[in-house]
Amino acid sequence: MRVLSGIQPTGRPHWGNFFGAIRQYIDLQEDNDGFYFIADLHALTTVREPDRLRGYVIDAALDLLALGLDPAKATMFVQSHVPEVSELNWLLLSGAPMGVLERCHAYKEKKAKGLPADAGLFTYPVLMAADILAYDSEVVPVGEDQVQHIEVCRDLAGSFNHSFGETFVLPKAKTLVDGAKVPGTDGQKMSKSYSNTLPLFCDDNLDTVKKINKQIMRITTDSRPMEDPKEPEGDHLFQLYRLFADPADTEAMAAKYRRGGFGYGEVKKAIAEASEEYFGPARAKRADLEQNLDYVHQTLREGAQKARVVAADVLSRAQKACGLR
Ligand code: TYM
Repeated sequence: MRVLSGIQPTGRPHWGNFFGAIRQYIDLQEDNDGFYFIADLHALTTVREPDRLRGYVIDAALDLLALGLDPAKATMFVQSHVPEVSELNWLLLSGAPMGVLERCHAYKEKKAKGLPADAGLFTYPVLMAADILAYDSEVVPVGEDQVQHIEVCRDLAGSFNHSFGETFVLPKAKTLVDGAKVPGTDGQKMSKSYSNTLPLFCDDNLDTVKKINKQIMRITTDSRPMEDPKEPEGDHLFQLYRLFADPADTEAMAAKYRRGGFGYGEVKKAIAEASEEYFGPARAKRADLEQNLDYVHQTLREGAQKARVVAADVLSRAQKACGLR
């Protein structure tokens, strides 16, 4: 099965990116034909400094490799290294209804806040559709916030097929029950734009654990007395703990919540320890990879070569269908 997904190079990846999406990439690379890319064209809608963008792209590649993406099993590349996608973007854009894009939440939210939104943000879901359709993708592993965009992709592909004959494969989003919407330190969805993220890596590897533990200790909690029994399900601290713990430990923690009489500090300490153990090996691997950037560049080059072959074929199919050839 062709599985595809992308991550924006807009800064350090966080627990939401990992448990919502990247963890799925790693699992799915085993038995599928995985295509995973770094969405630098999408990042251009927010990162407007060339050196920073270039750095973020390499950072994202290091992050993915350190977390376990394996170039021997999956194709890993940079979005803009496959120019066919940008051409396909236009074919889709020229038939994309304004109303569909106006309903997309990323654009709607920015407008509702009174922030200036540019055309790149408005048409962001169309470029995403081009990303997905360019590789005949069948499954797209993502967090919940991207599901609407995959629906838009299905709509655009369906209407293109309807107008010009069967051209595109209709993809399906794949989300995980326990990771689709990871909460941030304030209980809202974890997101770089809410400044509530817990990062996987920090700039200085040595300080990573210390810095992240500090942020874990700052996670907001409610102010009910310690003795009160609490429902674990609605509690974001519990949701974060559950991401790392095995089912038996999760059940034991849930029982503690229901009994009451314990402090949230205890849960935070457990999260700090579990996350250190869980991400420790990836942090060490990332430090090694940083010494071998040639390998990273080579991986991205080879990935783009493979991806271009597939995308060129789909683009030519789409061009013929709509009368461009
Ligand atoms: P990006 O970089 O914002 O997010 C990367 C992935 O992380 C998921 N995610 C979360 N999952 C659970 N809980 C959270 N709090 C959380 N925050 C982020 C996102 O759902 C995403 O799967 N538009 C995409 C990049 C992209 C793409 C594509 C993805 C471009 N083209 C084509 C799939 C297919 C994005 O914004 O990623």
